[in-house]
Amino acid sequence: MLDISGEQMKDILFEKFPHIIHGADYNPDQWQDYTEILKEDMRLIKLANLNEMTLGVFAWSAIETEEGKFDFSFLDRAMDDIYAAGGRVILATPSGAKPVWLAKKYPEICRVDENGIRSEAGGRHNHCNNSTVYRKKVQIINEKLAKRYKDHPALIAWHISNEYGNSTDLAECFCENCKKEFRAWLKAKYKTIENLNHEWWTAFWSHTFTSFDELDPPSCRTDKTIHGRNLDWKRFNSDKYIEFLEAEKEPLKKITPDIPVTTNLMELYSGIDYRKLAKSIDFVSWDNYPRWTDTQKDINVAVKTAFSHDFMRSLKNRPFLLMESTPSLVNWHQYNKLKRPGMHALSSLQAIAHGSDSVQYFQFRKSRGCSEKFHGAVVDHCGHENTRVFGDVKSLGFRLKKLDEIVGTKPECEVAVFHSIENMWALNDAQGFSNIDKKYYDTLFSFYKPLWTNGINTDIIGGDDDFDKYKVIFAPMLYMTDESLINKLCDYVKRGGILVCTYMTGYVNQNDLCALGGFPAGKLKDLFGVWNEEIDTLYPDDKNSVATMPGKTYTAKDYCEIIHTTSAETLGVYLCDFYKGKPAFTVNDFGDGRAYYIAFRGEEFIADFVETAIKEANIKPCIDAKLPPGVTAHSRADGKNNYLFIENYNQSTVVMDTKDIWTNIEKKTTVKDKIKIEPLSAIILKKQ
Ligand code: GLA
Ligand code: ZN
Repeated sequence: MLDISGEQMKDILFEKFPHIIHGADYNPDQWQDYTEILKEDMRLIKLANLNEMTLGVFAWSAIETEEGKFDFSFLDRAMDDIYAAGGRVILATPSGAKPVWLAKKYPEICRVDENGIRSEAGGRHNHCNNSTVYRKKVQIINEKLAKRYKDHPALIAWHISNEYGNSTDLAECFCENCKKEFRAWLKAKYKTIENLNHEWWTAFWSHTFTSFDELDPPSCRTDKTIHGRNLDWKRFNSDKYIEFLEAEKEPLKKITPDIPVTTNLMELYSGIDYRKLAKSIDFVSWDNYPRWTDTQKDINVAVKTAFSHDFMRSLKNRPFLLMESTPSLVNWHQYNKLKRPGMHALSSLQAIAHGSDSVQYFQFRKSRGCSEKFHGAVVDHCGHENTRVFGDVKSLGFRLKKLDEIVGTKPECEVAVFHSIENMWALNDAQGFSNIDKKYYDTLFSFYKPLWTNGINTDIIGGDDDFDKYKVIFAPMLYMTDESLINKLCDYVKRGGILVCTYMTGYVNQNDLCALGGFPAGKLKDLFGVWNEEIDTLYPDDKNSVATMPGKTYTAKDYCEIIHTTSAETLGVYLCDFYKGKPAFTVNDFGDGRAYYIAFRGEEFIADFVETAIKEANIKPCIDAKLPPGVTAHSRADGKNNYLFIENYNQSTVVMDTKDIWTNIEKKTTVKDKIKIEPLSAIILKKQ
């Protein structure tokens, strides 16, 4: 189990620049003819308390103006000017958007859609990942950038490409070359066509393949009923994004081995297995654009965003960067509402509370034309500093300057929520249950929310992580399992861990074949001491009820599994329908630990159950106090110091009792007995 008394060292991403990064995407490439503006930018950067600029994200055509002709003048100037202004640079490789001349000359770099139609020049994030020409051209420009700036004192990190997979169309390419690569990938995986036929269960509907050459991706022109193929196609595409990233990284690591690399990830993006990708980068960074509503609903937005931050931190168990956020509004939500006063600082400090060592923006200055001209920025079209948004950024920057001591600290977690993208791929692809929405993420959030509400630091883990660090693991809807995961879960509980699973556990294996011998698969039946006979999917208006032992009744919605206990103890039973009286909630002692099985979906039940489970496991919240509704607490530590972040999402001031004595690290004041937090704001305290 977790030893939180052990010394935990700081994990600083940039040893030579150990500050909270406060920066923005900056596009001097768009303003090369506006020298006055470029000059003014440097004044505004300093004035806004910014210490970092991310350069070159989509600057390929500005750097390589025609094939083989490179002009770095705007970048040279920007790198020097930013450094002179006291800032640092995170330099992007420009593969996120391809120059027109490149697409015209080598059309094979453009993606082909499911219907076999090749796109033309334009757009972004839409190249063919397997195009040898594109990979080569990207490596050339990356090498040039690395050679040119390897000794530049401003350079602190590489930002590889931009949001891999973020395409308005499908993030997949169906060109002949990609099909060839898919066949090779499948051959490497299955070795023989017989093996593939078995694992894909192709005798179904006469889909048997006689050779690897006959294999095509799932599409509207083939079909999507072979679920093993759908899953492999997703894995293949994810692997190819990672391979592409590796190819981009090669020249950078050769020339600048000490400069860390990242690529900016997107929230809960489902096209790439981020757990695998994280192994190819030195630190995680991500782009966060929550839909704040200015109503009570913001609590759920905060919970979801907190989950994403925890997910990003857990990918490498390191501090991460908030690479993009908006200081005001975006331009691509259905309704693009301004962030209310207070929300900018609150949502930025939320990221830091969960392990971010930065607050960065898209974008420094609004672009004058094209599709993002109305997207929020530090500097608006008016061009001066006398705006509310500029003021918000400036005052946040002033606060962030006082947080150096937090850099490199991390949350200590005794609880984890298990999440798997492959599990979600398989689950969402399943034809059956509810075909509208399986509610995988909603269910994860239901388990996560009471942890958030109670101020419990939480990791979001996957199958490769060390389970023994945690006292409790919540692993809802773990539909897809394999032998090694099953063994790992059993060992974890045997050694004293508490595992919580739900309906739809252990239905299929890693190739989406159902578990023979019934669900949950194999040894999971012993672990939980139950077997599952049927699952009832309820209509949206349907309800069942569950009575639990201390005499409480809860609503069951969406899913009710009909299970039988073998060795488990029944803790709750259904109250209605033909399965009235049957177990709905059980616990099984297994080795030194316990395995809970929740056979139904019920949000209120989950909230109460999670609270009880964490108390029983003696898990300490970040602060020994009752948090008011709409308030959460998270902490970061380095073995010596413990920093507490309290966030208030209410429109009113809250006051809470505290038994400890704290220092407000920004104001340098002592806080004891009562902690007061203003509406829509966050405070940072250090334990004395
Ligand atoms: C993404 C991209 C940026 C920009 C922003 C707008 O995060 O990385 O280039 O388009 O969205 O919100
Ligand atoms: Zn392709």
